[in-house]
Amino acid sequence: MQLQEVEIAKRFIPSPSGTLATLIANAEDGQWNVETGIDWSITPQPPNFLTQRFLSRALGALIAGEDATATACKLLLSNAPSTDVRTCLKFQAEDEDRHAKVYRRYLERIGLSPIIPEGFSIAIKNLADWQGPPAGLIFAVHVVLESEALSLQQDLIDDIPCPLFLNMSRRIAQDEARHVAFGHLVGTDAGPSLSNEERIETVAAIKDTWDACIKAVVNDNAIAWRAVRGYSERRWAVQTKSLERLGLVAPGAA
Ligand SMILES: [Fe+2]
Ligand SMILES: [Fe+2]
Repeated sequence: MQLQEVEIAKRFIPSPSGTLATLIANAEDGQWNVETGIDWSITPQPPNFLTQRFLSRALGALIAGEDATATACKLLLSNAPSTDVRTCLKFQAEDEDRHAKVYRRYLERIGLSPIIPEGFSIAIKNLADWQGPPAGLIFAVHVVLESEALSLQQDLIDDIPCPLFLNMSRRIAQDEARHVAFGHLVGTDAGPSLSNEERIETVAAIKDTWDACIKAVVNDNAIAWRAVRGYSERRWAVQTKSLERLGLVAPGAA
C-alpha cells in the first residue's frame, strides 16, 4: 500500500491486525445502505468550472469501475480458497453495487446521466473475461485497480469540491480501504502459488488493462493524454513496486 492508502486504511480500519477475520468483522460493523448511509439532504454543489461532460465521464468511469469490480468478485467466488476469502468477496460485491448506486444517485441529483467512455467498457470487458489464473485477477483488481481507484477518488475530492460528493467519498473510502487491504493480504499468499510464466502473463495483462483504462478516460482529448501519460507512467512504477513486494514482479524488473 502507498502512504496515502496506509493513512486512509489506518483511519478507517480500527485495529488492523492483518487478518481476514479482522476485515470481515470490519465489514460486518461497517454495513450501510444507499438511503441512510449518505446525507442526501446536502445540496450538491459541483463547481461551475467543471463541464457537464467532465462530470458525466468522471462519474461514469467510477460507475463502470464499480460494476467491473463487482463482476470480478463474483467470478472469484467460485475459486475462493477459503470461507473467509469467500465472505470478504461477498461483502465486497455488495459494497461495489452500493457504490455504483451512490454515484448514479449523485448524477441524478445534478441532472446528469453517466457517460461510460467506450474504450473503458472494452478494458473492463477484458477483466470480466479474464483467462489467466484466478490469483492473477486478484492482483489486477484488488492490488492494482482498487488502490488506483482509491487514489483517483482522493484526487476527485480535490477536483470536485462539492459537500455532497465529499460526504459520499468519505463513506465509500472506508469500504475501498478494506478492499485494498484484502488484496494485499490475499496477494501475499497468492504470489508464490503462480508459476514464472503465469506471473509474466499476469503482469502483462494488468498493464494492458491499465493502459486501456488510462487512454479510454482521455481518449477524445490528445492534450489530456499527453498530460496524463507521465502521471500514468509514474503511477505504474508505484504499482509495480507493490507487485514486487508481493512477489509477482522480480525486484528491479520494473
Ligand atoms: Fe467501490
Ligand atoms: Fe472496492
